[in-house]
Amino acid sequence: MAIERTFSIIKPDAVARNAIGGVVARLEEGGLRVVASRMVRLTEAQARAFYAVHKERPFYNDLVTFMTEGPVVVQVLEGEDAILRNRQIMGATNPEKADAGTIRKLFGTNIERNAVHGSDAPETAAQEIAFFFSGAELATLAR
Ligand code: CMP
Repeated sequence: MAIERTFSIIKPDAVARNAIGGVVARLEEGGLRVVASRMVRLTEAQARAFYAVHKERPFYNDLVTFMTEGPVVVQVLEGEDAILRNRQIMGATNPEKADAGTIRKLFGTNIERNAVHGSDAPETAAQEIAFFFSGAELATLAR
């Protein structure tokens, strides 16, 4: 197993539910460490760019509206097999289908308002981390 970094967003629905601490607790209990974190309000342009891979999907405009409705927490998580581990801790995209005890089951509402985002592969993790955090910033924060 390798030590990896992955990118995570605590989405506006979870922030509005006062669940930042609940989400981070589950990530930490699952063996992940927060190595960078910032609360931001995404602009429409940022949300569109971040989710550009979905721009042809019917839910794209709604997703952009949702992701800009309130503040989010963007974070970098580190740990053994962090990308897969984070996805396991988050649970299935649709909270209704997520396993008991997962973040999306606990804090999500529906397939759009699903509490958290997590990178799905090493390439996307690197891209998504770089979208929000500079190399210099990460170097300063590293243990
Ligand atoms: P996320 O993991 O951030 O990646 C893309 C997001 O689009 C996803 O979580 C959901 O918030 C949203 N999403 C994915 N599929 C659908 C869908 N079928 N309908 C509405 N929103 C979706």
